[in-house]
Amino acid sequence: MTRNPTILCRCEGVTLAEVEEAIDQGYDTLGELRRHLRVGMGPCQGRTCLPLLAAVLARKTGRRLEEILGQTTVRPPLAPAPVGLFLEGEGVDQG
Ligand code: FES
Repeated sequence: MTRNPTILCRCEGVTLAEVEEAIDQGYDTLGELRRHLRVGMGPCQGRTCLPLLAAVLARKTGRRLEEILGQTTVRPPLAPAPVGLFLEGEGVDQG
């Protein structure tokens, strides 16, 4: 019987085990983990997984959560864009 992996980032399909392994390999900042595993780079832009990632990083490294979150350079979009904005011919002057 195969054990279900715990998914940490559902947008990118990154598991808790993959995150813990990466931290053990020396990826010990949010930015490094994002670039290495693409965690937090999915459609929700880390809204769900980055707090979890920070908590795992704090637990594994013994650092304070505030210290870890202080290193982040996450820049979410200023405002959500409607999908129709990107559809060809929708609201675009074909001039
Ligand atoms: S859950 Fe990780 S980017 Fe959406």
